Amino acid sequence: MRPSHRIFSTEDARRLAMKRLPRLVFDFIEGGAGRERGMSRNTEQFDRVLLQPRVMADIEERTQTTEFLGTQFGAPFGVAPMGMCNLVWPHADRMVAETARDLNIPMCLSSAGSSTLDSVHEWAGENAWFQLYFGQSSQTSLEAAAQAQNAGYETLVLTVDVPQVSRRVRDLRNGFTMPFKMTPGAFLDFASHPVWSVSSLAAGVPSPKTLARTENGEGFNRNASRAGADWTFLERLREQWQGKLIVKGITSPVDAVRAQQCDVDAIYVSNHGGRQLDCVPPALRLLPIIRRAVGPAFPLLFDSGVRNGEDVVKALILGADFVMLGRPVLYALGAASQKGLSDLLHCLVEDIDITMAQLGTTNVSDLGLHNLFEDGEAADGPLAVSGPARLHVAGQQ
Ligand SMILES: Cc1cc2nc3c(=O)[nH]c(=O)nc-3n(C[C@H](O)[C@H](O)[C@H](O)COP(=O)(O)O)c2cc1C
Repeated sequence: MRPSHRIFSTEDARRLAMKRLPRLVFDFIEGGAGRERGMSRNTEQFDRVLLQPRVMADIEERTQTTEFLGTQFGAPFGVAPMGMCNLVWPHADRMVAETARDLNIPMCLSSAGSSTLDSVHEWAGENAWFQLYFGQSSQTSLEAAAQAQNAGYETLVLTVDVPQVSRRVRDLRNGFTMPFKMTPGAFLDFASHPVWSVSSLAAGVPSPKTLARTENGEGFNRNASRAGADWTFLERLREQWQGKLIVKGITSPVDAVRAQQCDVDAIYVSNHGGRQLDCVPPALRLLPIIRRAVGPAFPLLFDSGVRNGEDVVKALILGADFVMLGRPVLYALGAASQKGLSDLLHCLVEDIDITMAQLGTTNVSDLGLHNLFEDGEAADGPLAVSGPARLHVAGQQ
């Protein structure tokens, strides 16, 4: 393989995916809400955070093993729920599931997934989590959760930040719909990407397959309004769901505390990668705020803008207990299928390891605000964190 075709970073994966995928598919992965400023702010915020190297700390015995909600994972990151992965490359769901199992990291199957609950559970085993959207009604949503429980899932992620699907201008321009419909523009797009088109044609056009139709007639409807969801629903779901329950898409400290009162096991701080609201604050900036609101010990999961191992470490430093990867996974699959994904995730593991070495840390649970570079000049950024958030720091130096 020519060096220009190898993946050493998310940027490599993105560049290769852009070449290999039809425009419509690439834009579906990459697109954000509105003018896509929210999406850019997520990554820019990571660039603003600087880390403080430490030396001579004897960091020979480093480990990334991370315990989250009572399970030991091989690394402090997993794969965020993303709908219609098989559109990016045939059998992508299987590739994600098997890679997650091999690396012992979690992967979260979306309600809008393109494989069944049973098959993903078979491929990923205990590493498979399930993500639920509120559906037509509380009843159909509880039935969907029951399908996941019956299929053997033990961790449920309820996504609450899509009360209404946002307007993504790229998808509107490209005529992207789900279920997928061929338009003249799409035909030309596909014709100029024959490898993707022939592979996808051979595997069959992907469609939402994760949720079976319930008695009330619902499978998954991307465009359905979820406007009826409220805290009562979360309370009912908590009563019904026997396993771990995580609520995803929390950006407000008030909502975080309300979710805690519903007895959820963890809160997933995320702004959906800027796919829902253009003027949303950068997710990394919200993390210390939510950490302060929920207290030092409450489990927090994070995504939105994570692109490399240093980003994972920064999120852990700023209050996350575990970190999820979104778009980079799809770029890697689009760039080079399973090998692309495996290469990218190995880059991340290596990157985290090297970052820990630079920071003089041997264990991810020792990362904390003491690892930030602070020169007293940044008054508004994440460096302005103070007060109880510091309690999160283990082994503060
Ligand atoms: C193509 C795509 C599909 C997504 N589908 C879902 C979904 O079905 N359910 C969900 O909770 N989040 C979904 N997300 C949001 C991700 O879980 C995650 O929050 C987001 O990708 C994080 O931002 P980042 O990718 O920029 O890091 C999707 C994201 C992408 C890129």
